[in-house]
Amino acid sequence: MRIPPAARRRLGRLAPLLGLVLLVLAGCAENYPQTTLAPKGDFARAVDTLFRSTVWWAAGVFVLVEGVLLFAIFKYRERPGGPEASQFHGNALLEVIWTIIPATILVFIAIPTVRTIFRTAEPPPGDPLVIEVIGHQWWWEFRYPEFNITTASEMYVPVGRPVDLRMRTADVLHSFWIPQLAAKRDVFYGRDNRLWFTAEEAGVFSGQCAEFCGIQHGRMAHRVIAAAPADFDAWVARMSAASAPVPVFDGDSLALAGQALFATRACVGCHALRAVDPPPGLVGPNLANIGGRLTIAAGSLPNTDANLARWLRNPQEYKQGVLMPNLGLSEDDIRALVAYLRTQRVATLPPALAATP
Ligand code: CUA
Repeated sequence: MRIPPAARRRLGRLAPLLGLVLLVLAGCAENYPQTTLAPKGDFARAVDTLFRSTVWWAAGVFVLVEGVLLFAIFKYRERPGGPEASQFHGNALLEVIWTIIPATILVFIAIPTVRTIFRTAEPPPGDPLVIEVIGHQWWWEFRYPEFNITTASEMYVPVGRPVDLRMRTADVLHSFWIPQLAAKRDVFYGRDNRLWFTAEEAGVFSGQCAEFCGIQHGRMAHRVIAAAPADFDAWVARMSAASAPVPVFDGDSLALAGQALFATRACVGCHALRAVDPPPGLVGPNLANIGGRLTIAAGSLPNTDANLARWLRNPQEYKQGVLMPNLGLSEDDIRALVAYLRTQRVATLPPALAATP
């Protein structure tokens, strides 16, 4: 179809408007798992409050300045036969006014900013739950000294109790970030960094490494599962019981074959299947409860049999550069390993959260 030139010009003029409409409509989407604008934790709320107050100040300045500008443009525009505009240079009074006003606004922004910085840098309030967070290329390890539990990629926290994160890295710089619960904070080698937050409601919250840390930085995600205190206690109890791999039912020959493979192939050299007292020095993520987790591959793939098989077939295909090499497994081996890993399920999402995406 040929578009006449006049129509084409009209469409060309409409394009920016169309773009703007699309941008505005994009703001109406409801599912932004990593939004910073819907805080569900005290730390994130403090940052959000600060952000909003700054936006209001900025909006006020914008409306005032643009309003005066438009007023001047229209009111004093050149008209045919009109008088010549008065010619002058500088106005001390105006200069003083428009120096004092912004300086005052900056004071009003600086006071709550500094107050928030100090508040969030203080030790956490109340009786906090300590969780050690260790960044690895490219996954997050979580340890609960209070319960002697180690896990990876999915952090459970109780709603209403402050969580005190002691964070470091095993290799390069990473940055731990859970947008809806807390701000981001870098992790360093040989130095503990701290971050705390209190989840205000139950939910599954997405997080993401926020500091470029190598080729798979983009696939270094994690989830924080904020559970009602009773559900959190149940998770702790079930993970605490995971002091050995889940035994396989005698009749499940496929899973038994997978169990044998896990012990004889390279798997067991890098991964522990128990959350309690895992052998030290393992370089792969702890796999206790791998059958019951939401995600695999550091929070970047849903935990389905198909994705597990895809991962086992060749981890380098999905996540080039990870430590886990292509083990050259046969399709039969892969099926057996998937069946076995699926039996390693001690805890699943609390029913109250199961409907959460
Ligand atoms: Cu770890 Cu980016």
